[in-house]
Amino acid sequence: MDKLQIRGGVRLDGEVRISGAKNAALPILAATLLADSPVIVSNVPHLRDVTTMIELLGRMGASVTVDERMRVEVDPTTTIETAAPYELVKTMRAAILVLGPLVAKYGRADVSLPGGCAIGARPVNIHVAGLQAMGAEVHIENGYIRARAGRLRGARIVMDTVTVTGTENLMMAACLADGQTILENAAREPEIVDLAQFLIAMGAKITGHGTDTILVEGVERLHGTHYEVLPDRIEAGTYLVAGAITGGRVRARNARAEHLDAVLGKLIEAGAEVIRGEGFVEVNMHGRRPRAVDIRTAPHPGFPTDMQAQFAALNTVADGVGTIVETIFENRFMHLLEMRRMGAEIRLEGNTAIIKGVPKLTAAPVMATDLRASASLVIAGLVAEGTTDVERIYHIDRGYECIEEKLAGLGAQIRRMNDRDRG
Ligand code: EPU
Repeated sequence: MDKLQIRGGVRLDGEVRISGAKNAALPILAATLLADSPVIVSNVPHLRDVTTMIELLGRMGASVTVDERMRVEVDPTTTIETAAPYELVKTMRAAILVLGPLVAKYGRADVSLPGGCAIGARPVNIHVAGLQAMGAEVHIENGYIRARAGRLRGARIVMDTVTVTGTENLMMAACLADGQTILENAAREPEIVDLAQFLIAMGAKITGHGTDTILVEGVERLHGTHYEVLPDRIEAGTYLVAGAITGGRVRARNARAEHLDAVLGKLIEAGAEVIRGEGFVEVNMHGRRPRAVDIRTAPHPGFPTDMQAQFAALNTVADGVGTIVETIFENRFMHLLEMRRMGAEIRLEGNTAIIKGVPKLTAAPVMATDLRASASLVIAGLVAEGTTDVERIYHIDRGYECIEEKLAGLGAQIRRMNDRDRG
């Protein structure tokens, strides 16, 4: 199994190109199933989760071609299968995103229930209840969500928790429903807006995306289009924090500052200079030690849970005490236990972590438990004294394209090792 080896102590300085957003590319690829002619999606990040989604579309019979620049062409007209098997869903929960499109377009779907994961229980009851409100019959059987429907009917759906993929599944399904759907308490993430814009480019009638009330006027059919995925705000935020923790300077090329307000606000509080430029965002610590910051995760435009672990790493070596409250997922603190092994001073009280910055972390072998946790351990490794080995980095490959190359481009001493290298 591959691991990343990082020699700490180098101040990052340079520019990194931000890839397309994983969490926009995945629903957009799922949404191609709704079209009745070929669709081209570009700026798709080269990630394991994307490969899994492409494999899923292929297993359903869709014709998918990918060129060397990750321009993905999907011809959904050859789709013959409407099942998402457990073996794929268990490696990527986002496979649940084919549920809405399949029911809306084909009137049937058999999608494995994702089950719990390393960060929490993550139920999908809101996805299911929304489809039922639109007229689908849904049963849970043998670990599968089995949905059957004629043409879906528009409905007013009040989601009792703000859910990103739940909002996406129901918005996609509503596009081909008969009549108007109103989604209330909808998620407002930039990735929802990107998906809506993609659906609109295919002929959907959607308004209100980016607010908590989304209106969808169902249409008879959606057609092919060419769409470019937006840049990944979490990848950008991760490199900016990596720069800040080392006291360095990182320019994230392609990053959109307007999607990073909460994150940039916290970096400023930590003492960074932030430059919002044309087509880039730059963070410069001018060699300073970061100040500890308090974080409370919340749905967009609040502070993203997907950036919590990276800021926890920042707090471990910051000046002062920072409190982190995780309100979205009940078990998203596993990285903190690993950081303790690197000498971090952390007290855990339920969903709150109190982190007292120490002058230095010391390298240790650590293990990644989920995608963002792995990124935070790499960030911690950048400032630890000695050589940190981050194991189980298949998690990182699910969501960060060429992380070691990008960090090395900023000056980090990092390399990927596989079993052969270890001899
Ligand atoms: N929830 C329910 N019922 C549902 C759906 C969600 O109770 O039917 C709860 C969840 O248990 C959680 C909260 O609602 O407590 C919010 O979860 P949400 O549904 O928004 O999460 P998600 O859609 O499964 C997406 C991202 C995650 C990101 C979260 C929160 C994708 C593919 N995944 O997950 O990304 O953390 O939104 O912003 O978009 C990652 O990229 O590392 C990642 C985990």
